[in-house]
Order: sequence, then C-alpha cells, then structure tokens
Amino acid sequence: MSLLFSKTTLGPLTLQNRLVMSPLTRNRATGNVPNELMAEYYSQRASAGLIITEGTSPSSNGLGYPRIPGIFSAAQVAGWKRVTEAVHARGAKIFLQLMHTGRIGHLLNLPAGASMLAPSAVPAVGDIYTDAKGMKPQPVPKAMMEADIKTAVEEYTQAAKNAMTAGFDGIELHGTNGYLLEQFIRPNSNRRTDRYGGQIENRARFILEVAATVTAAIGKERVGIRLSPFGVFNDMPLYPEMEADYTYLAQKLNALGLVYVHLVDHSSMGAPKVPTFVKEMFRREFKRSLILSGGFDLARAEADLAAGKCDLIAVGRPLLANPDLIERWKRGAVLNAPDSSTFYTPGPKGYTDYPALAKEPQPV
Ligand SMILES: Cc1cc2nc3c(=O)[nH]c(=O)nc-3n(C[C@H](O)[C@H](O)[C@H](O)COP(=O)(O)O)c2cc1C
Repeated sequence: MSLLFSKTTLGPLTLQNRLVMSPLTRNRATGNVPNELMAEYYSQRASAGLIITEGTSPSSNGLGYPRIPGIFSAAQVAGWKRVTEAVHARGAKIFLQLMHTGRIGHLLNLPAGASMLAPSAVPAVGDIYTDAKGMKPQPVPKAMMEADIKTAVEEYTQAAKNAMTAGFDGIELHGTNGYLLEQFIRPNSNRRTDRYGGQIENRARFILEVAATVTAAIGKERVGIRLSPFGVFNDMPLYPEMEADYTYLAQKLNALGLVYVHLVDHSSMGAPKVPTFVKEMFRREFKRSLILSGGFDLARAEADLAAGKCDLIAVGRPLLANPDLIERWKRGAVLNAPDSSTFYTPGPKGYTDYPALAKEPQPV
C-alpha cells in the first residue's frame, strides 16, 4: 500500500495525501500582488495534500526580488483569498510561506521608501537580478536597530493574521536559504554584539521571538518552519558549531510546539549533502510532524515514509513541471521536464502551460 498517496493528518488538518508542494518563487506577482494566473497555477497543483506557497513578504522591506508577492496590504490579502479558495475547492490544504529577504535583494526591486535590512551591515557575496537594470552586486544592507527588530516581529505577526484572513490553513516561517531569519542564525551574516548576536542563544533570539509571537497570534497548530542546516545558498558558509546550533533550534522549536519542521536538502541541486545524523537529530528532538524535501522521486518518498524518517514529503521541481504529479506517479507515466529558463519570468509560459495527462479511458 502506498503511504504517499494515503490520507494523513497535520495537527488538526486532514491531508488528502502525504505529498507537499515545496515553496517555489515564481515571480508572477506583478506589483507584488497575487493574481488570477497564480490562482490557476496553484489550483492546477492542488491534488497534493498540502501546498506551501512561494516565499511571500511580511514587509515592504522584504521584497528583495522582482514580482514576488507580499501579505501586508489589503489588495494582497484579497489576491491570496482567490488562491486559497481555488486550492481548497480541489481538496488541498495551503500554508503561506513568509519570506523576508533581508540582505538579499536590491533597492531597485524594493518599493519606494523601503530599506534593505539585515542583522549586520555585511553584504552577501554575489549579484542579484533587478527588472530595471539586470544583474547588480548585492548592496550593503542597513544593520537593524532594536526598534527595527521589534517592527519586523510585528510585521511577521500581522502577516500571519493577514494569512488567516486570506483563508490559509497556516503559515510557514522561511528560515532557510540565506534570508532574514537565517541571516540572524548564521555567524557570517550576524556580527552583532548585542543580545541578538554572539552565542547561539542570542543568534536564535529573533527567529524564536518571531515563532513565539506568531504562534501566540494564530495558534501553534497553524505554524510550521523551514530550516536548512548545512545549507550554503546565498553566501551562507558552513561553520564548526552548525550541528550544535541546529540542535538548540530543534529543541526550542519543539518546546514552542510548532506543527511541523520542514528540512531542506539541496544536494540534488549541487549543495553539500545534509548529513543523515542531522535529519535523525531533528526526528528525535522535534516531536511533531517532520517534512523532508529535496530531490525526491516516488521510490525515495515511499522508502523514507515507510522507514519512519518523516511524516510528509515535499517536492519542488517535479510538481512545478507536472501539475498532475500524483496521477502520473500513480500511473507510472513519463514526467514533463522542468524548464529553468521560465522559472522566474513573467506570464503563463512555463507556469500554467505544462500539460496534464489525458484522462484514462473509463470502463463503460
Ligand atoms: C524555481 C525555484 C524557486 C524556489 N523558491 C523557493 C522559495 O520561495 N522558498 C523556499 O523555501 N525554497 C524555494 N526553492 C527551493 C525548493 O523549495 C526546493 O527545496 C528545491 O527545489 C529542491 O527540491 P526538489 O528537488 O523537489 O525540486 C525554490 C526552488 C526552485 C527551483
């Protein structure tokens, strides 16, 4: 019997299967507002059990990439409402991923009046794409004052409440891939000497404050978190205390009672492999649901579920390219290949036009 295709629960929610759509930034939200095209895209993929949306900013300061959505204005809430309605109509549940880009981005991508904020004034190595002027070097961000940190916590909290208004089943805190929450955790981007920098108890303070405040606002059953221990994306080098730091995080997040931890392993994309003992540590320390992601095919998904390594499996690129991935896997059908040239471009091409399988003939 397939575990992947069978029903399960996530906190109070019933999921129609154990397949989760990984968060995928697609840059189709012109003006940072979700639209009908996005509702169609998510609805096409709603045979998954749970959809986690693309990274969505809680603040105008967190819109570091072009055409990514926010959840801080009335128009954005209304746009997301259309998405959640379309997804719920097909039986999936949907969490909104809250992503504040922090030092990753460019003023050319931010709305007027917004700032590039980070734990410390340390730029990320590398270039960033802007619609206005193409590739630009990552700028030096402004080091956040305590008042900026307090404002950011409030923005996350309001964003989570807005997500509830928009009909989401929950939110996922994006603690991975070099964005603001991870910038606080990692010592190369957090050089602070106040109570938000230095030892891990301090570097984890911001992420834990956000997690605590958001769970108090919308309920711990509605809050998950994505983490990338051993992730190096966006200039986040490995460092000796990494395992101990993430063990501390796993224990603290467990105490807060979040509904899930979602671990990223980007070795299928060329990143260092996340050691097995780190995934096992999370399974041991974090008592609620565990989601694994990165490079899964059907066989590996079933094997990891059967071995009890996790409760749910998240899949990104295969679902991006195969709106009916579940059906294809059930039938053993060939998969469409993802087209990386249209991952981040505007419009329906490479977004809503991946073909679904023809319906199987029904017996008469
Ligand atoms: C086009 C694209 C956009 C992505 N956007 C996000 C994002 O917004 N938030 C996030 O946490 N991860 C993001 N990721 C990482 C994916 O969620 C996932 O971890 C990665 O694709 C590996 O899983 P896969 O092998 O199943 O594709 C993105 C990946 C791709 C390819």
